[in-house]
Amino acid sequence: MQKLEQLYEGKAKKVFRTDDPELYIVDYKDDATAFNGLKKGTIAGKGVINNQMTNHLMRRIEKAGIPTHFVQELSERETLVKKVSIVPLEVIIRNLSAGSFAKRYGVEEGIVFDAPTIEFSYKNDELGDPLLNSYHALALKLATAEEIETIKKYAFAVNDILKAFWAECGVTLVDFKLEFGRLTDGTIVLADEISPDTCRLWDEKTHEKLDKDRFRRDLGGVEGAYAEVMQRLLAHDAD
Ligand code: TMP
Ligand code: ASP
Repeated sequence: MQKLEQLYEGKAKKVFRTDDPELYIVDYKDDATAFNGLKKGTIAGKGVINNQMTNHLMRRIEKAGIPTHFVQELSERETLVKKVSIVPLEVIIRNLSAGSFAKRYGVEEGIVFDAPTIEFSYKNDELGDPLLNSYHALALKLATAEEIETIKKYAFAVNDILKAFWAECGVTLVDFKLEFGRLTDGTIVLADEISPDTCRLWDEKTHEKLDKDRFRRDLGGVEGAYAEVMQRLLAHDAD
């Protein structure tokens, strides 16, 4: 499958057209940004890790019966995916308090919730991805009521799969962000990536951060943290 013209360049990935109108190629970069692009940097090797980790997790999710855009890994940084139009919602699931949740509600990080939470942000960089609820999403015609129900159901199911998988790797899945897309026929599928850029992953015992918070918060050891979680994922599968 050949890369044709570039359709889009985001903060962490590029998307290319192919000779099949229903398939795109995603190319993962080492570029990292935070705070809506205000902080910029590079995390050496991140593109390779995020590509391989995303594909690994997408395969697991697909096997569990949730449709995804994943088709085939093409190289270290490139993956063939189904063409989707992205639903402009960032879907965030949380199992423990952290990040903007802890800040917004004035609580410490690390409180374990009795049940996971879900929230949506409007995917709009100019507005800084504002938080919204499903009524707002409907009013803005970002998705239909049926699509929102499907997205919620899939997001909680993905949480069950990922939480159990990471627990087997000695990692606590604190929270994460998902994006969904519509195939040409309107089917909702899981899209985008699932990586240390989009998840908070803590060592189960020490609570050491093994994700992009090391970059966001200038904690150092960024590359090492990405390599460590990838290593744990690979070690799990070698068993
Ligand atoms: P938050 O606590 O900053 O709202 O982040 C919640 C989760 O979403 C966290 O795992 C990081 C992820 N996330 C993204 O993937 N992209 C983003 O732009 C933001 C703000 C968060
Ligand atoms: N990548 C996002 C940005 O630049 C934010 C983040 O992941 O913290 O806005």
